[in-house]
Amino acid sequence: MLFGRKNREKERAREPIEIPAGLCDLHCHILAGVDDGAPDDEHMLDLITYEYECGVRHLCFTPHYNPALFEPKPEKIAESFETAKKFCAESFPDMTLYLGNEVFMRPDTVERLRDRSCKPLGDSRVVLTEFHPTTTYSDMRMYVVKLISAGKLPLLAHIERYDKLNDPQDIMELKSLGVKFQINTEAFESPKKKLIARLVEEGLIDAVADDRHSRHRGEPNLAETYEYVAKRFGNHAAEALFIRRPLNILNTL
Ligand SMILES: [Fe+2]
Repeated sequence: MLFGRKNREKERAREPIEIPAGLCDLHCHILAGVDDGAPDDEHMLDLITYEYECGVRHLCFTPHYNPALFEPKPEKIAESFETAKKFCAESFPDMTLYLGNEVFMRPDTVERLRDRSCKPLGDSRVVLTEFHPTTTYSDMRMYVVKLISAGKLPLLAHIERYDKLNDPQDIMELKSLGVKFQINTEAFESPKKKLIARLVEEGLIDAVADDRHSRHRGEPNLAETYEYVAKRFGNHAAEALFIRRPLNILNTL
């Protein structure tokens, strides 16, 4: 069995990989002047171009919503989004832009979603959900249950970062509640790379995203990670993680 799997991996490594134009990136900090990402329009337009060159055609801006650190002004978000849309209409008409937040979970998050202080991804009911890396599993569970009870679906951001999310039973429990899982491009090189590979093999990861803040952050980009995933797990897995499942998330109404 193992021998067969290794042979398949070797065969995949020899296959030429063509990165399709049509990737969907659900998590980035590219919107200008609203958090610790792109500081101005020039950086924002450069990063949109970078994503386009990586093959991304569906890009969701997700400024941090964490009132302890960032609480972007709605007017500034709207202004930067308009600038981005105008740029894409002129330069990349086949790029579709979406708006949401990366929402740091707090006791009042459901109320803040209701009063539109923060937003799900695009027109969907999926909330890109962030916890502090040391949050306990029971707190995570409590918060996601609150979100689900309010009619939202959590997409847990960069799950490779959470110290207390290691037990496969806990992961399966969250999955059975309806929680979706996102990993960053660097997850395959993280201390949790074995767990992440197992979750990918079992089809439990819903999206790989870039979480890009700047052009030079050191981590692999989305195109490089697509190629890595296609070679290691197969083209079908790469297509699911970078295109099909993320688009399904944006269409979850
Ligand atoms: Fe982020």
